[in-house]
Amino acid sequence: MRTRRDVLQRLAVLSGTAGLAGCSRMLDPSTVGGVPGLAANPHAESLPETQFGHADALRTDGDGNPIQPQYHRVLLLALDVEPSNDAARTVERSMRTLEAAFDWAPDGLFHMLAWGTDYFERVGALDRSPIERPTVLSRVDEPDLQSYDAALVLSSDTQSHLIRTENALFGSADELNGEPVEHRLGTVFSVAGRRTGFMGAGLPKEHAHVEGVPSDALSDDHPMFTGFFSGRKRTQAGEDRVRIGDGDFAGGTTMHLSHLTENLDLWWDSFDAADRAGRMFAPDVSPEDVAEFGTDVPFANAVREHAREYGEVGHHEKVARAREDGEPIVLRRDFNTVDGGQAGVHFLSLQRSLADFRKTRRAMNGWYLRDEHAQVTDRKNNGLLEFITVQSRANFYAPPRNGRSFPLFTDG
Ligand code: HEM
Repeated sequence: MRTRRDVLQRLAVLSGTAGLAGCSRMLDPSTVGGVPGLAANPHAESLPETQFGHADALRTDGDGNPIQPQYHRVLLLALDVEPSNDAARTVERSMRTLEAAFDWAPDGLFHMLAWGTDYFERVGALDRSPIERPTVLSRVDEPDLQSYDAALVLSSDTQSHLIRTENALFGSADELNGEPVEHRLGTVFSVAGRRTGFMGAGLPKEHAHVEGVPSDALSDDHPMFTGFFSGRKRTQAGEDRVRIGDGDFAGGTTMHLSHLTENLDLWWDSFDAADRAGRMFAPDVSPEDVAEFGTDVPFANAVREHAREYGEVGHHEKVARAREDGEPIVLRRDFNTVDGGQAGVHFLSLQRSLADFRKTRRAMNGWYLRDEHAQVTDRKNNGLLEFITVQSRANFYAPPRNGRSFPLFTDG
């Protein structure tokens, strides 16, 4: 893998400058969408205008909750070439290859190309982009604050689709699911990092060989390492809620990606089922209650009272305080991981503005509870905070499908 320094040096040589500040003169917000010199996308008619539109393609469970794909892979990308129409055409053609090769469905492939803070800085547009560099958001974590040029987000129920896609777009495979591969993202980007994972009943148990996973605790029913489900319909922002409505970035969304590691020994060995239900939801929620949750998780908005009465609070009752007009404001697409040989979660969330993510994370921190009960501290008796450590954070903007190649850039 190339280091960031290698890439910057190569870019400096390619552009004949010490950076790419000169590109800013070529930015033209009126040309958002489409790629000069390329016919309209032949697949566009049958695909969502957003890159994140999964809702109509997902299966649902018996209660009507959407079931996210089982396997996930996020490729973190570093630009190797100067932005140009040529590079934009290569990127767009590579993405169209995916659309030709797979159905937009869990048994095919979902894909999204998002652009990071490094890219917007490179083209001199970070200030007017919808994203900013990540910051530390809690008092107890010291995450690696990361910045990338782009991220390719892939998910499917068929794990091999993700591996074959990576081999086709960044390796040398000349065929992908019967489609010839004539254009590769690998001629424009190199892979600077990779996040892999899974979500679905029984998958955490299958991955219970890694450090910190008590294998006897997990069952074939558990979709997450904590033993609970995630993504009840009404606990998620709708796709419309996270879609940017107007301006240069209309039709896109912001994406936050953090890597959290989990201390599962503590979760499973030191807590019983009632404790775990209390920490995940609220102290007055029992495992029997949880079994009855259908498309929603009840929210009594009584977290202060719970802190005072029980000396502990749950994760859900804190984060649900960030709802606006009764609706959640972030769309979570997180997944379990054993990357680095350690159980954890890649917390990928979509929101109209990164401020919505920060508001949710502040609600989760629970600092507003410190005067309610001495036992509720920054980590202890405070939802999941005793069990998770934030390792890294990064921010991205995911443009609409027809503007997914070098947003804001025009070679004009
Ligand atoms: C290991 C990490 C995490 C686990 C295991 C976890 C688990 C859960 C579970 C089980 C629920 C309720 C059930 C459902 O989704 O249907 C939930 C809800 C939620 N979580 Fe998390 N979570 C984690 C981290 C986070 C983080 C880092 C955030 C954001 C800062 C977050 C934000 C939310 C939100 C917004 C909801 C829905 C609230 C509502 O109903 O309005 N979670 N989480």
